[in-house]
Amino acid sequence: MISNKTQTVKVEIPAQQKYFYPIIIGENILDKVGELVKKYIKAEKLLVVTNKKVYPLYGEKIKESLLKEGFEIDFVILEDGEKHKNINSLEAIWQKAIEFKLERKDAIIALGGGVVGDVTGFAAATYLRGIYFVQIPTTLLSQVDSSVGGKVAINNKLGKNLIGSFYQPKFVLTDISTLKTLSVEELKVGLAEVLKYGIIEKSCGLNGLNTTFLQYLRQNKDAIFALDTDIIQELVKYCCELKAAVVNKDEKEAGLRAILNFGHTIGHAIEKCSNYENINHGQAIAIGMKGALFISKKRKLIDENYYKTCLELLDLYGMDYKINKSINSEMIYEAMFGDKKVLSGKIRFVLLTGESEVSVFNDVDKETLIEALNILY
Ligand code: NAD
Ligand code: GLY
Repeated sequence: MISNKTQTVKVEIPAQQKYFYPIIIGENILDKVGELVKKYIKAEKLLVVTNKKVYPLYGEKIKESLLKEGFEIDFVILEDGEKHKNINSLEAIWQKAIEFKLERKDAIIALGGGVVGDVTGFAAATYLRGIYFVQIPTTLLSQVDSSVGGKVAINNKLGKNLIGSFYQPKFVLTDISTLKTLSVEELKVGLAEVLKYGIIEKSCGLNGLNTTFLQYLRQNKDAIFALDTDIIQELVKYCCELKAAVVNKDEKEAGLRAILNFGHTIGHAIEKCSNYENINHGQAIAIGMKGALFISKKRKLIDENYYKTCLELLDLYGMDYKINKSINSEMIYEAMFGDKKVLSGKIRFVLLTGESEVSVFNDVDKETLIEALNILY
């Protein structure tokens, strides 16, 4: 049985006729995966997709738990890294699924970070026009963000996440003990998205802590970096609740969901200009958030004090990243036009409009944008 300390967040998708799925969050619960698959899916065969770094850490535990419940299983072990969130990895999963003769009643399980989750989810969405999908996120970023809400995708050389789908999992199993094997830099990638939730909390429509999320993050920084069990579990759960609240209102990003892209307009362009090398997603998003904060202040949407408060929090979490000088601001500006966030030829920006409140703007002029980029070197 799953322990008492385990908590569950329910993600509801009204557009899919009251479909909902649980995010089961706890410590040392990877060995429950077999039991949970049995509960939620009537599968016989399971294809587990992971990568060369995660398989040696957690592959055996997953394997044991699934075999114990009598499932027939196989693995796809991808190369590690954002560079491999591509068509080749997708084809490797499709190929194995065909050879393994997976049927629609069976399931594909993603074991890893956001890269494995995104590419595996897209494979699950497209194989046999859709097969059951389970997420086991093992990075902080994937636990607080990418495993929630059903965005699945691969990158294309012209842009990030350009080919994809909305495809919800049957359940998410989040074991916070997997964070112990993450490097501090990888933890900070997830923390960049956590800080994003702090900055947009009010607009998500939740107020679930005794204090504001920004204040909570200020007070609990040491416990978070020390991976204190209770604090991390509360943090992961609250981030999932914030995201679920947004996805519940706008699964397909017709409006509100775009607020989750705070910091991502500049961030994604930096990642693309860097060819997905030498800078990771969290670092790029941290830089992008500083750019969005600057534009918000420049447009007098927030005052100087609040601008400084947000920057200080980013600094407290060591988000002191800069754009590499080999990428100039014109290149980043051009890269923004190749992004999904462009609508009718206009770049969309999520800007702060008040304390922890954001809105989407499509009228940020080039001069302001270049000025913002120039402070980020
Ligand atoms: P990642 O998947 O590349 O993982 C980061 C690194 O940590 C990799 O080297 C990975 O192998 C390793 N790793 C994974 N789990 C580990 C563990 N427990 N211990 C040690 N190492 C471990 O990157 P990420 O930061 O998890 O995810 C980034 C991706 O997520 C990007 O592609 C981004 O576009 C995507 N994303 C998607 C969504 C969404 O809604 N679908 C949201 C945010 C980000
Ligand atoms: N990470 C943005 C979203 O899920 O919508």
